[in-house]
Amino acid sequence: MEKKVILSGIQATGDLHLGHYIGVLKRFVEMQDEFDCYYMIANLHALTVRRDPKELKENVYKLLASYIAAGLDPDKSTIFLQSQVHEHAELGWVLDCYTYMGELSRMTQYKDKSAKHADNINAGLFTYPSLMAGDILLYQADLVPTGEDQKQHVELTRDLAERFNKLYGETFKIPKPFIEKVGARVMGLQDPTSKMSKSSTLPNDTILLIDTPEEIMKKVKKAVTDSDGIVKYDEENKPGISNLMEIYGIITSKTMDEIENEFEGQGYGNFKVAVADAIIKELEPFRNKYNELMANPSYLEEIYNKGAKKASEVASKTLKDVYEKIGIIR
Ligand code: TRP
Repeated sequence: MEKKVILSGIQATGDLHLGHYIGVLKRFVEMQDEFDCYYMIANLHALTVRRDPKELKENVYKLLASYIAAGLDPDKSTIFLQSQVHEHAELGWVLDCYTYMGELSRMTQYKDKSAKHADNINAGLFTYPSLMAGDILLYQADLVPTGEDQKQHVELTRDLAERFNKLYGETFKIPKPFIEKVGARVMGLQDPTSKMSKSSTLPNDTILLIDTPEEIMKKVKKAVTDSDGIVKYDEENKPGISNLMEIYGIITSKTMDEIENEFEGQGYGNFKVAVADAIIKELEPFRNKYNELMANPSYLEEIYNKGAKKASEVASKTLKDVYEKIGIIR
């Protein structure tokens, strides 16, 4: 049987954190053998917010190094830059013409981002989901692993694909969102009711993948808990402790019950040190590999150039079919 196709991407914006590692990168790695995976670095999407050009370039290298350091294998998966496969911009434009303003104005990410960047509500921010739909449909993806926050965009992608297929005949595979498992959602250390985020303004809220062991220890020790002093899983009443338990559980493959037993009768101090140690141990090989890769940009360039070639072969077939169907000469 043919392997199912996976496509996903991360925007090239800044340093990755523990939430990306557990919720996204580890899942990407897990899927490599079972699926035909396309992992993209979404640098065109990153333009919807004003960026420093040097930083944007640098962030592509950082993200690619993170993909590889986390265990993505360029011989197994197709790892590529969105900007190197021109079909993305082209299909994005075509899909713009099949997407209604009403649909785009309902997107919660658009509403959130335009509230946050009120001085720069550009058209790209608005049509972001059509470009993303193009990313997915070019590869005839079956599944799109993403966070809950991107589900609405994948649903719009399905609507667009169905709309197009109805008008012109079978062209696109209808993709399904593949939402992160419960427990794979890492919350902020200072605000355990919202997802760990690189844009958090709270100090010590986010563990970056490039943090030193000392920084990790310090942040975990400062993590918000509660006053009962019992290591017990209770997401509603003990969100801080429950978040630390989930992080610890995912890294050590222990269940919540096992963790409760392990720390029974001990305060939060020992537990926090154990959590921090587990994170440090888990991230050490990542950080070493990451630093090695960042010191060798020509190797990273080799990877993305090779990925672009593989991705283009698939993307160009889909776009050719689309152009023929809608009457665009190429
Ligand atoms: N919009 C995604 C995010 O913000 C990134 C992204 C771009 C993406 N294109 C994609 C994710 C295609 C999945 C599939 O995280």
